[in-house]
Amino acid sequence: MKTITDLELENKKVLIRCDFNVPIKNGKIIDDTRIKESLKTINYCIEKNAKIILLSHLGRVKTESDKKDKTLKPIAKKLEKLLNKEIKFIPETRGKKLEDAVDSLKNGELLLIENTRFEDINGKKESSNDKELGKYWASLGDIFINDAFGTIHRKHASNVGIASNKDSAVGFLVEKELNVLSELKCPTKPFIIILGGSKVSDKIGVIKNLVKKADRILIGGGMAFTFLQSEGYNIGSSILDQDSLDFCRDILNKYPEKILLPVDVNVTTEFSNSTKNEVKDITEIADNEMGLDIGPNTITLYENYLKDAKTVLWNGPLGVYELNKYKKSTDEILKFLVDNNIKTILGGGDIVAAASNAKLNDKVYHASTGGGATLEYLEGKKLPGVEVIK
Ligand code: 3PG
Repeated sequence: MKTITDLELENKKVLIRCDFNVPIKNGKIIDDTRIKESLKTINYCIEKNAKIILLSHLGRVKTESDKKDKTLKPIAKKLEKLLNKEIKFIPETRGKKLEDAVDSLKNGELLLIENTRFEDINGKKESSNDKELGKYWASLGDIFINDAFGTIHRKHASNVGIASNKDSAVGFLVEKELNVLSELKCPTKPFIIILGGSKVSDKIGVIKNLVKKADRILIGGGMAFTFLQSEGYNIGSSILDQDSLDFCRDILNKYPEKILLPVDVNVTTEFSNSTKNEVKDITEIADNEMGLDIGPNTITLYENYLKDAKTVLWNGPLGVYELNKYKKSTDEILKFLVDNNIKTILGGGDIVAAASNAKLNDKVYHASTGGGATLEYLEGKKLPGVEVIK
């Protein structure tokens, strides 16, 4: 597959699709990791004297009123700061103003087009990969670089559409993400997977695809309770993914040694930080109690397996990370992996956010910028943004 270094960029108008889909509150960017991760490709294009046209989506845009909170203007400001360079922000996704701005770009200058999903308001043109739109955006440049790993599982006009109409390559970020994830095809063993998050159904594809390769799968998070119920435990009012009970039962029967469940949990009676909580054995959960984190004996048990691991893949927090009381196991095991220098790949938005919160995201071997994209890769699915460039 072509990568950015295979292309002649000098004097060229280079379209770069980034994933600047970052959390923004009251106009302020809460986490700029994805923006920072895109800088290597952008800086390379600046050094190569290209004229740079940046595109990205931000959130989902369904109505005119969504536009106010979903503008890329704060991203342009952030990029200016990070690059120490002017970014021409064009508050349009097409038209004369945009075309004139592109034509007047000089070598090494940058322009950012407004949120590509503004095109979704009239007929989902971006998200349905409208042919004309992909062709139009492609016509603005000479070369296309897809560096939006977080969106690589989408077949949209701003990635697949442009790539279908232009000489294209992947950028440094996409190349790095794919290289790391492909190490999981033949991981150094013991290979242990940690799976958390609330719903089993989100992880069925990953479990099915990787269970044979993994030496152990350590289960936590809300999804653990569906597994526990399938084994006959009373889970009280803990979250249950009813439709996945059969799957849990079958997979536990098939791989009883490989799939490990919590032995104790941190329970409470309300989904809140202020309600009293207590650690209980999984045989003791009362009808009115819900488990919001795995307990200390489970942490010790899991760390005992993890200490010998040579590769760890982790998707989904082990407790309700947004409530301070229930982030203990996630933080503790993250720290354990870092302190013991265990090669760890974090895949999925929530676990990366948790690691970033604990200031450990740049201490692990790899923290992926992809949420859904990583999950689809781990499920063994083809990624449209990659396929089109291949
Ligand atoms: C993400 O945050 O996972 C990507 O930016 C893709 O966003 P989407 O799920 O809205 O397509």
